Amino acid sequence: MNNRQLFLQHVAQTSDAPLALEIVRAEGMYMWDVNDKRYLDLIAGISVCNLGHCHPAVVKAIQEQSQKYMHLLVYGEFVQSPQVAYATRLTQHLPENLNCVYFTNSGAEAVEGAMKLAKRFTGRTEIACFNRSYHGSTQGALSILGDEYWRNAYRPLLPGIRRLTYNDFESLDTITSATAAVIAESVQAEGGVNVPQREWLHALRERCTATGALLILDEIQCGFGRNGSLWAFQQFDIVPDILLLGKALGGGMPMGAFISSREIMWSITHQPVLGHITTFGGHPVNCAAGLAAFEALLESDLISTVKEKEQLFLQQLKHPLIKAVRSLGLMIAVEFESFEVNKKVIDYCISKGVITDWFLFAAECMRIVPPLIITPEEIQQACEVILEGCSQSGKRSKEA
Ligand SMILES: Cc1ncc(COP(=O)(O)O)c(C=O)c1O
Repeated sequence: MNNRQLFLQHVAQTSDAPLALEIVRAEGMYMWDVNDKRYLDLIAGISVCNLGHCHPAVVKAIQEQSQKYMHLLVYGEFVQSPQVAYATRLTQHLPENLNCVYFTNSGAEAVEGAMKLAKRFTGRTEIACFNRSYHGSTQGALSILGDEYWRNAYRPLLPGIRRLTYNDFESLDTITSATAAVIAESVQAEGGVNVPQREWLHALRERCTATGALLILDEIQCGFGRNGSLWAFQQFDIVPDILLLGKALGGGMPMGAFISSREIMWSITHQPVLGHITTFGGHPVNCAAGLAAFEALLESDLISTVKEKEQLFLQQLKHPLIKAVRSLGLMIAVEFESFEVNKKVIDYCISKGVITDWFLFAAECMRIVPPLIITPEEIQQACEVILEGCSQSGKRSKEA
């Protein structure tokens, strides 16, 4: 059997139609398959590889740290310098109240940790969340996922979940003194790039403050410059009580984090002690990689180029088949009439060596979340392929 067959045979599948491309190496904006076919990456491993693949500083940091030490002990006992350095550096670039970092293995674990922290700190049990939000696939995260189709098969889920409508002012009245936390994506990604109204986010912040509910902002997908500022919440002038990071946090290695004030974070240290336990969270090699990626991002002028690059996409993505384009920075959803049309365009793009896909709750939308290093020439090439794909799909639909 070849590798593809072994993959289908022995690696657990999550759908009956995996892409099943066999990639043998990746660098910068590109990946190469077993036949040496080159692919331009428009989705960055789903908002992970903001600096592109295998950034040399990240590779070097991994090599150096893995020669010093890898796993030593479960999270929180030893002073591990990569963890300390990364937590310190992150907090230097965050508002004053976000000064304490808990590193996890994944985004979903950060969500779980934050929900527990909010319950513990407030002594309340209700968690409010929004429709069309995605926060991960573990049972707590699934309980606050904003789409019944994806939740239903896994019931019973957590009790005490209140579902609100994103960008809806009236919904905010249902946040009360029983609410431990409200969790929202700063920009809804899997909903097909839903950008919040500034006034609504302010009203949400005010309502949380008035009721004593903690505001958790999930920037797992939109952090690290993706929306044109280091953190998306900076563009809306609000500050959360708990911030969630993941994806690009590890520079290509698996990591998540929930970040809050030392005062709030202290509540998981007692009664019971060890309020959140993880063996591998804050792994030294991952922290070294993440820190190297963060430094490289800060040293570069990449974030300042994001809005310009967004405009280049928007100027070119015009076609009768494209119904709408929603974006904030390099998080772009291209909306077609249906999933079927979108799928035809996506398949065409992949056949021409451009990797893209759809969004979980917006299957009619094509995902464009490339590494921030994409050049204007690459944007032009990608748009040409997408537009060709639109024309081909339009033709094929007429013929059918
Ligand atoms: C906004 C958001 N939150 C949380 C998660 C969960 O992260 P992970 O897949 O690392 O568990 C994701 C993953 O796509 C996400 O997009």
